[in-house]
Amino acid sequence: METDENSHPLKGTSAPMETNELINTVTALFEGDKGLLAMDESTATCNKRFEEVGIPQTEEYRRKYRELIVTAPGLGKCISGAILYDETIYQSTKDGVLFTDKLKQAGIIPGIKVDEGTTDLAGFPGEKITRGLDGLKERLAKYYELGARFAKWRAVITINAVIPTKGCIEANMHALARYAALCQEAGIVPIVEPEVLMDGSHDLKRCFDVTANVQHILFDQLFDQNVNLQALILKPNMVLPGLSSPKQASIDKVAEATVTCLLQSVPAAVPGVAFLSGGQSAELATAHLNAMHVKYKGKLPWALTFSFARAIQQPALEIWKGEDENVEKAQQMLVHRASLDNAARRGEY
Ligand code: 13P
Repeated sequence: METDENSHPLKGTSAPMETNELINTVTALFEGDKGLLAMDESTATCNKRFEEVGIPQTEEYRRKYRELIVTAPGLGKCISGAILYDETIYQSTKDGVLFTDKLKQAGIIPGIKVDEGTTDLAGFPGEKITRGLDGLKERLAKYYELGARFAKWRAVITINAVIPTKGCIEANMHALARYAALCQEAGIVPIVEPEVLMDGSHDLKRCFDVTANVQHILFDQLFDQNVNLQALILKPNMVLPGLSSPKQASIDKVAEATVTCLLQSVPAAVPGVAFLSGGQSAELATAHLNAMHVKYKGKLPWALTFSFARAIQQPALEIWKGEDENVEKAQQMLVHRASLDNAARRGEY
């Protein structure tokens, strides 16, 4: 078997066709210093972001905003994959070009959020479970036809003095593993996103312990559900003190805690990790990613990149404000933030 240093160990004659397709997608998503753009806010979340900056909350404004993103000049140099949402995967630019086609023309692989949001977990006050497994097999087949080659499912874990419970973590990680297995069967690379929220007054150590526990249970479940670890992407939170914790941590401490947690929990077979930003400022999320690369360059078994929503989009959204005359400046800011995240991936931010 011919190999070169860029080829994945599973790439070759012994792997089944569908595995090769998945590996090719993962390899393309982690190419160079690129990362992912999460532009998959649900209608409710997108409207919330619009409301905060005074943009009308209509389908047309949401479409215009996504058009601004997918047509941003130079975006394809920084971003390898963009995560869409059910509303946006069917939408087009004002000239009638599907967003998925615009992305592909820019060299960006379209992805799709397939979970259906969270709801209260029965029997576990204060905890959430993610919905969306019913009918997922059929939805994935449809999204594949529409051009999606990777998907996302987000599980939400909240920290306070008495939660998260084992019951909540297990139920959510089981759903993530079932989703991942269905994706791989459909030729779609699953991004598994177990997000431990930043809200709360807990310290860094508590976030570390909860995140490590969540990731251990996730990988047990992925193993039990026969998910191919070489054909998935982990999208974790960084290990941070709670937002209202009196004990905040330095950039280096966060980088060290995050990578140590991953080293203790994430098998080397996993090709890559793409962080969510979770409500950190754009600058801080980028600085944390950069510090991980400065400290651990060449020493980690998996690639580390970004899959930010707010940390790339928020500064651009605040410039756009829903006005046509601000589109160009907002696009420049979007690409600027993404290119700074590329620099962070090189440890040069
Ligand atoms: P943030 O980067 O804003 O946390 O969003 C990432 C994401 O995709 C959440 O599901």
